[in-house]
Amino acid sequence: MDKKEATERVAKLREEINHHRYLYHVKDTQEISDSALDSLKKELDQLEKEHPSLVTPDSPTQRVGGRPLPELENIQHRSRMLSLQDVFSFEELEKWEDRNRKIVNTDFQYFSELKIDGVAVSLIYEDGHLVRAVTRGDGYTGENVTHNIRTIEAVPLRLYGEHKGLIEVRGEVYLLKEDFKKMNEQRAKAGKPLFANPRNIAAGSIRQLDPAVATARPLRFFAWEITEGIPSTSREDEYKTLTGLGFPVPPDAQLFKDLSEVPGLIRSLEEKRNNYPFLVDGIVFKINNLAVSDRLGVVGKAPRGSVAYKFAAEEATTVIEDIVVQVGRTGVLTPVAHVRPVKVAGTTVSRATLHNIDEIHRKDVRVGDTVIIRKAGDIIPEIVQSLPKLRPGSAREFMMPEKCPVCGGPIKREEGGVAFRCLNKNCFTIKREQIAHAVGDNGFDIEGLGDKIIEQLLQEGLVKQPPDLWELKEGDLLPLELFAEKKATKLVEEIQSRKEIPLAKFLVALSIPNVGTVTAQDLAREFQSLEKIQTVTASELERVEGIGEKVARSIQEFFSASDTKELINKYISVGISISQESGAGPLSGKTFVFTGSLGDITRGEAKQLVIQKGGKVASAVGKEVDYVVVGEDAGSKEAKAKQLGLATLSPEEFRKIIS
Ligand code: IVH
Repeated sequence: MDKKEATERVAKLREEINHHRYLYHVKDTQEISDSALDSLKKELDQLEKEHPSLVTPDSPTQRVGGRPLPELENIQHRSRMLSLQDVFSFEELEKWEDRNRKIVNTDFQYFSELKIDGVAVSLIYEDGHLVRAVTRGDGYTGENVTHNIRTIEAVPLRLYGEHKGLIEVRGEVYLLKEDFKKMNEQRAKAGKPLFANPRNIAAGSIRQLDPAVATARPLRFFAWEITEGIPSTSREDEYKTLTGLGFPVPPDAQLFKDLSEVPGLIRSLEEKRNNYPFLVDGIVFKINNLAVSDRLGVVGKAPRGSVAYKFAAEEATTVIEDIVVQVGRTGVLTPVAHVRPVKVAGTTVSRATLHNIDEIHRKDVRVGDTVIIRKAGDIIPEIVQSLPKLRPGSAREFMMPEKCPVCGGPIKREEGGVAFRCLNKNCFTIKREQIAHAVGDNGFDIEGLGDKIIEQLLQEGLVKQPPDLWELKEGDLLPLELFAEKKATKLVEEIQSRKEIPLAKFLVALSIPNVGTVTAQDLAREFQSLEKIQTVTASELERVEGIGEKVARSIQEFFSASDTKELINKYISVGISISQESGAGPLSGKTFVFTGSLGDITRGEAKQLVIQKGGKVASAVGKEVDYVVVGEDAGSKEAKAKQLGLATLSPEEFRKIIS
């Protein structure tokens, strides 16, 4: 490609890539797949390598990389970067309005936005190009973090539309809860200390000297204000302008004609807050009219025109009464703090995880200590830190037990890791947890099987491992304490209705050590079938993002164990059918029908093979069927297939296709 053609192609590619960035981060939609978009980025990168003079600082390829800085430079803000005053009740909001009315006597309309729990940054654009990004600092002076902010795809490197002069936009850098969990899962596996919360990761990442760190972290951005360059008359107007410039803005913003409808909004958002994929710690109420808001001025560090309504506190202090070791489904021993009950984020908490012994040492937590406890969103309550100055003389250090506290079995520290495990496969708690996990939301999703029932089933010897559940009959349950007739029937029906399961969920249900929901999904997506996962090599496993040496070893050890083979066979023999990940696999889109005897495999096994490879199996011959596999003593299906002109296969031909 000559320079002229390359110039045109580069411009088009940039426009296209930016369009998809906008759809993804601003419009929450996607027109093309991630891999298709990656492919466009690759082409652009290639062209820029061939024609380095075409590289511009706002090209999508320029988000990554750059050299580490010796230190962050201090930069003075163009206008003071304020914070918000907090209120904790509707009454306080009313008082805020009363105070404002004394200063500017008018009717106030309000614009509400979610308050995102992240880190504030100021972005400076010159002639539409991002030239600088600065942290809040002390409000007057912040640190230059441009090199890191450029790596965040949600931040436009170039504004939409034609712009002359300087524009300043402020907003919040944050992380999705799921990405936070994923990062901590990986850190735990690597034996590294865990991050306390998503905000800490965001704050830590943007203040790194080396932009490679921020590049590797899934940071996001929401804009909340334009402080210079484009005047707006109202907050609503400003919000729309931000979207038009190419910025993502916090969802579910609303305009109110007065405060009367606000209690309803607070109630509904308090209920909904945990459903957002990011942490929301309150609602920002802004006087909609910007002229009025400006006239109200500033008090202390906060403008009078906006206020932050904070949801119930997510942190509280309490005292550790005991540290008890809990045994999990893979045998890992987790120290759990039993604390004096305390209300955190609206619910009473009496237990909090301490993760592992290294965390206890790192945080220097002892029984008797006063500690800060946190419950953020759907993240399990945890001990953030101890307050050693409040430590009583009677405080005692915690020691890991030498034997499993449940079964007395031997325990062992994982090689190179932080976890201790009970090695007894028949440990009661491991069994209970494995069954509870297998039937949980991310596995077979069976309702009505709580811990108490599982415990009884185990105690009575009715169930030893999860597949035994499908052999339960009503009559088995009726003699048990917790069952009346209706309940027994319902549970058996519920269990029977859950025989089909997608591969990723089945992998979760197997309780493979070191494999959580995310890794299970990655495995299913990558290898498509259980058969393949059972036989992949370690190096194939390690090629999957997020799977390292340790997890690969764990997966291989799990599948090569004879217990595992027996467990899987048992699942198949009770009729569990594992469905292929949607649309994937060599037989995807193909429908099979079987008739007659297939020789050395049963029809059930044949069906399983087709599903594992992404195909479907129908019970009757029809137009949507692609192949009819005709065995010995085939019935009327063969004739019907011929009549419809469908392709027929012998059992041998079927075996060839499958392999
Ligand atoms: S408006 C003068 N809107 O919360 C500051 N702030 O506790 C104007 N925040 O400093 C801020 N989401 O860092 C605004 N939708 C939102 C926000 C938001 C999060 C942060 C921001 C602010 C802090 C106040």
